[in-house]
Amino acid sequence: MSEDVFKKIVSHCKEYGFVFQSSEIYDGLSAVYDYGQMGVELKNNIKKYWWDSMVLLHENVVGIDSAIFMHPTIWKASGHVDAFNDPLIDNKDSKKRYRADVLIEDHMAKIDDKINKEVEKAAKRFGESFDEAMFRQTNPRILENQAKRNEVHTRFAKALNDNNLDELRQIIVDCEIVDPISGTRNWTDVRQFNLMFSTEMGSTADGAMKVYLRPETAQGIFVNFLNVQKTGRMKIPFGIAQIGKAFRNEIVARQFIFRMREFEQMEMQFFVRPGEELEWFAKWKDIRMKWHKALGFGDHKYRFHDHDKLAHYANAATDVEFEMPFGFKEVEGIHSRTDFDLSSHEKFSGKKIQYFDPELNKSYTPYVIETSIGVDRMFLSTMSAAYCEEEVEGGETRVVLKLPAALAPIKLGVLPLIKKDGLPEKAQEIIDNLKFDFKCQYDEKDSIGKRYRRQDAIGTPYCVTVDHQTLEDNTVTIRYRDTMEQERVAIDKLAGIISDKVSMKNLLKTIV
Ligand code: GAP
Repeated sequence: MSEDVFKKIVSHCKEYGFVFQSSEIYDGLSAVYDYGQMGVELKNNIKKYWWDSMVLLHENVVGIDSAIFMHPTIWKASGHVDAFNDPLIDNKDSKKRYRADVLIEDHMAKIDDKINKEVEKAAKRFGESFDEAMFRQTNPRILENQAKRNEVHTRFAKALNDNNLDELRQIIVDCEIVDPISGTRNWTDVRQFNLMFSTEMGSTADGAMKVYLRPETAQGIFVNFLNVQKTGRMKIPFGIAQIGKAFRNEIVARQFIFRMREFEQMEMQFFVRPGEELEWFAKWKDIRMKWHKALGFGDHKYRFHDHDKLAHYANAATDVEFEMPFGFKEVEGIHSRTDFDLSSHEKFSGKKIQYFDPELNKSYTPYVIETSIGVDRMFLSTMSAAYCEEEVEGGETRVVLKLPAALAPIKLGVLPLIKKDGLPEKAQEIIDNLKFDFKCQYDEKDSIGKRYRRQDAIGTPYCVTVDHQTLEDNTVTIRYRDTMEQERVAIDKLAGIISDKVSMKNLLKTIV
């Protein structure tokens, strides 16, 4: 996939009512987006898939919905006030600001691309007899590039770990990274920039309190740990799940809904006995990967990426990366956060936050495994994987969203062949019967072919056409999105055929 396909996906999202630029009629607000009539359905289905997989499939996981505003000391305790920073660098000629770490990561990705292209070329040249592993180990150009990459990578990981901003700048200089706009290497120093938005609560006359818009939903879970544990009589191990908005003043906001200033997270904190966290970390990695792969986009599109830089409170961390049109990118983070958050809240609040373990007959601060996935990134990966341009009969191209049926915004398009002779009324009758089970859409405008294309473009897995024969024998033509096959079926069989395939329950059954 390429940047070109990505552009098409972005415009498709707008054209078919999935995603709009926020405040568009006022020329937009950068890195903020609105979900349209199709987008909200897809987004809600993604959230339901995640929520149900957590709180239905795990008896020991419960959900909450905490407020966005929280006491400001929470963000001191969590480390966000002091350390939730991005390293920024400016180009003095273009006056543009960049994330220093992203410039270096992009540079490494370019070296990877060079290596991969070299391999692809050789694979074509040698055909069947090509031994990729041997080629990678012996080709001088590849070895040279790999050594370059490794050196940058080692320096980069160390600079991040040591929080060494001068070294980050030096890597940019040594790698001769240029500003994509000015083309120059005229860089400023690297500085830290805090990502939290703040506002004021209460009137200024009363001495208003500075509050933050939460940059993650997780802290709402930590500060409710005791409330949920006690009122729910929860026994360790157990988890608390939450879906909600988060806000970050991203300086380098780009790639559509990949990096936004207002976004949504689906987070789950799983509380375990100290010492058992790495075992649970491995279990949750498996569970979460299975959840992703069950959508059927192809296992090769996913990989784990272990963190180079572990946050000071983490003892293991990995990302689930998905192959977006612009390369493999993080969609979800899985972190073993030790007892950092609960201990820190205990210290800052002065309240004891511990769990009495009846089996061990002692109290302790639980350790935490966190799974944290961005709804919007999940949305983007779903759209990217589903978007497909296919050549159909007659040399025509159709754009089809091959969405998993359980996630599709509309499950059934109902199309009267013509707008008269009682066909629209019959079509409406079918919708009235089925609308309790799943979302249907009525469409009578344009030719049947055009209407099929419109439904393909929004990913509707089934369409039925109501014609004159329908009035006589109560049958319709059902048409399947992916195969475009059609068959005649009785109206009273429709609910059975469709419910089975679009049901969230059946999707969930594949991951237990
Ligand atoms: N509580 C842990 C946490 O927030 P994170 O890696 O900073 O970890 C988790 O964020 C997930 O949230 C990411 O994997 C990504 O999917 C999503 N996310 C983070 N920042 C985002 C942004 N600016 N725009 C969209 N999604 C974002």
